[in-house]
Amino acid sequence: MARPRVLSGIQPTADSFHLGNYLGAVRQWVTLQETHDAFYCVVDLHAITVPTEPDALRRRSRVAAAQLFAAGLDPERSTVFVQSHVREHTELAWVLICLTGMGEAARMTQFKDKSAKFGESAASVGLFTYPILQAADILLYQADRVPVGADQKQHLELTRDLGQRFNHRFGDTFTLPEPYILKEVEKITDLQDPSAKMSKSSSSPAGILDVLEQPGPLRKKVMRAVTDTGSEVLFDEENKPGISNLLRIQSALTGTAIPDLVNRYEGQGYGTFKKDVAEAVVEAFTPIRERTEKLLSDETELDRMLAVGARRASEVARQTMEMVRDRVGFLPLA
Ligand code: TYM
Repeated sequence: MARPRVLSGIQPTADSFHLGNYLGAVRQWVTLQETHDAFYCVVDLHAITVPTEPDALRRRSRVAAAQLFAAGLDPERSTVFVQSHVREHTELAWVLICLTGMGEAARMTQFKDKSAKFGESAASVGLFTYPILQAADILLYQADRVPVGADQKQHLELTRDLGQRFNHRFGDTFTLPEPYILKEVEKITDLQDPSAKMSKSSSSPAGILDVLEQPGPLRKKVMRAVTDTGSEVLFDEENKPGISNLLRIQSALTGTAIPDLVNRYEGQGYGTFKKDVAEAVVEAFTPIRERTEKLLSDETELDRMLAVGARRASEVARQTMEMVRDRVGFLPLA
């Protein structure tokens, strides 16, 4: 039997992934390549929905791809590619845009959050249609599962709705994907503001742990993470959101269950605990940073790996688009 298919994407909008990207998404991508037919893309078309410098975009796209390989994606088992290399993403996005209601698109909360920064009328139409391009990414590959953090739930619901609508109107074409979200790591929060998610666009530098950061600053940030009143290490999301976030991080990185961690630090105060969290983060990130640097030192080879991914992805995308074109009623090219 064919393996179920998995697809996910990550934006090249920063010079490094952060701990939320890693625990909420990328780590699952690595695990899922063992059991799934895996497609992962660096979504550069999504990155230009906000103003972007060409050189920064090129650099960040390579840095993103290098981090994916460095985190453990194996080019033999996973198809890792850059979204803009596969033209069908934008083509399918257009078809889906024409199936989406204005009101439906306007309900997307990420657009509301992101456009609030520019003022809604200054935000690009691309930012508005962003979730529809994401739906195209997923449906194009007939993905069964999509490993993401909790912030992507609404976009996955839209993807299913659009897939279903297309199938209903034009005949069965798309697999309807299920989100793959691990509860324990679905929302890693900002170290300085544990009520907000850790985010490239809105966290302050002190609130965010970058995968490519050096051990010194990483340790400092964990030690300075906002903690809660009291001194006991307890998991209590409501009254101790800061400590609970660190417990989730420590548990995910070390594989120790949260109740066992709580027992271990009983009577020891926050200091010892934070020191151990810092070490776990440094231990997880250091090899990824070193491998990323190595991959980036040979851009020709990295670009070649991405070209292999693009060819494999294009093959699947082309087949889906052929079907879509026919069903929608576009004339074949004689
Ligand atoms: P992006 O680039 O913002 O984030 C990449 C992945 O990281 C997850 N994530 C988090 N998980 C837990 N805690 C956090 N603090 C945290 N911050 C980010 C995100 O949920 C995501 O899984 N729209 C997508 C990119 C995309 C995509 C796709 C995803 C484009 N096409 C197709 C899946 C399938 C995004 O902006 O992710």
